[in-house]
Amino acid sequence: MPTIRIGIVTVSDRASRGEYEDKGGPAVVTFLRDALSCDWEPVARVIPDEQDRIESTLKALCDDEGCCLVVTTGGTGPAPRDVTPEATEAVCDKMLPGFGELMRQVSLRSVPTAILSRQTAGIRGKSLVVNLPGKPAAIRECLLAVMPAVPYCVDLIGGPFLTTHEAVVRAFRPKPS
Ligand code: MTE
Repeated sequence: MPTIRIGIVTVSDRASRGEYEDKGGPAVVTFLRDALSCDWEPVARVIPDEQDRIESTLKALCDDEGCCLVVTTGGTGPAPRDVTPEATEAVCDKMLPGFGELMRQVSLRSVPTAILSRQTAGIRGKSLVVNLPGKPAAIRECLLAVMPAVPYCVDLIGGPFLTTHEAVVRAFRPKPS
C-alpha cells in the first residue's frame, strides 16, 4: 500500500528567506506524529506570503504529491500580506467553514485575538486543506479541536484510512445507518 502523505506548508516571508527559524511546520509534524497511529510521511514546504506561490504549492501537494491532507500555518490574519485563506479558497472545489469556526472558538479560550484569524478549510479533489495560524502555540490547540473529524472527512473524499492514537485524538466515524 502506498504511504500516506501529508503536506505541511509554512507560509511566512521571513521563514522562507531564512531570517527566522520555521517553528510552525515542525510543530505540525510533532502533533501529527503524536496523533496518528497509521504510517505517514510529511511533505514539507516553506514559502513566502505570495498568493500565487501558495496556490501553486497547494495544487502541487494535492495533485502531484498525492497528499490526502495539507495543513498550512501562517498568513491567516488581517495584515496586507496575509493571503493564505484567499489562496486556499481559490484552489478548493468546496469550502468547509466549520473548521475555521471551531478553531476560532477553541482559540478564543487562550487569546482574544483568535478572532483575527480568517483560517478556513476546503476540499481539492481527494485532498483536505486546513489552515492554521502561524503561532506554534495555536497549532496544537487548533489541530486537537478539528482532528476528530479529519479521518472521516478524508474517507468521504476517497482518501486513505487514517487512524489515530485514542489517547490524543479520538477519530469519530458515524456508524452506517
Ligand atoms: N489562535 C491561537 N490558538 N493562538 C494564538 O496565539 N493568534 C491570533 C490568531 N489565532 C492566535 C490564534 C493572532 S494574534 C492572529 S493575528 C491570527 O491568529 C492570525 O495569525 P497568522 O497571520 O499568523 O495566521
